[in-house]
Amino acid sequence: MRTQPNAAIRAIFSRRSVGKLNLPGPSEGELITILRAGAAAPDHKLTRPFWFVVFEGKAREEFGALLAEALMERMAARGLEPTPGQLEKERNRFMRAPLVIAVAAVRNGEISLPTQEIISAAAAAAQNMLLAATSLGYGSIWRTGDPAYDPKVKAALGIKESDFVVGFLYFGTSAEAMTPEPHDPDISSITSSWEA
Ligand SMILES: Cc1cc2nc3c(=O)[nH]c(=O)nc-3n(C[C@H](O)[C@H](O)[C@H](O)COP(=O)(O)O)c2cc1C
Repeated sequence: MRTQPNAAIRAIFSRRSVGKLNLPGPSEGELITILRAGAAAPDHKLTRPFWFVVFEGKAREEFGALLAEALMERMAARGLEPTPGQLEKERNRFMRAPLVIAVAAVRNGEISLPTQEIISAAAAAAQNMLLAATSLGYGSIWRTGDPAYDPKVKAALGIKESDFVVGFLYFGTSAEAMTPEPHDPDISSITSSWEA
């Protein structure tokens, strides 16, 4: 890099997904900063197509019970039953980090935007949150999985079936031994300079 990277540039390149996140998670003040970073994302026509749901402490376990029920219903619809192991995994999904934030793209107000635009704005909000957490020294990971597309889960998050869960963001402290290398991306295969 030719110039000294500032904090934002450093956060962009050092953010890596961390699967196992321990205590401590972000403090209440840091959580507000992370949420505000999300809400500061760009959105077309200022419709604020964002919906954030915070899970901490016991709420993670309680939501896990709902995730297990949702899995049972999804499988029952296909004439199947989950194994005890699958149910346990579902119950413990949100226990993999001290803080989980569900980020959804929702339609607000009278202005009708292409679906692509509300999802793009909510994805930018999610990335802003990950970068804010990285800057604050926390590990994070963006996850989706089947629950992100489940109508029962969407209803429990307070969104419509036609809305979109763009991700479940997990935040916490990454064990030092598990901290992955910063990104060193190669842009040559994904970039071209347009010429007439
Ligand atoms: C929309 C989206 C969904 C993702 N879902 C999952 C997931 O369900 N499970 C998972 O382990 N990682 C998930 N990831 C994280 C990616 O696996 C990860 O970002 C990718 O491997 C690149 O690694 P990095 O985040 O360290 O740059 C998701 C990322 C995005 C953007």
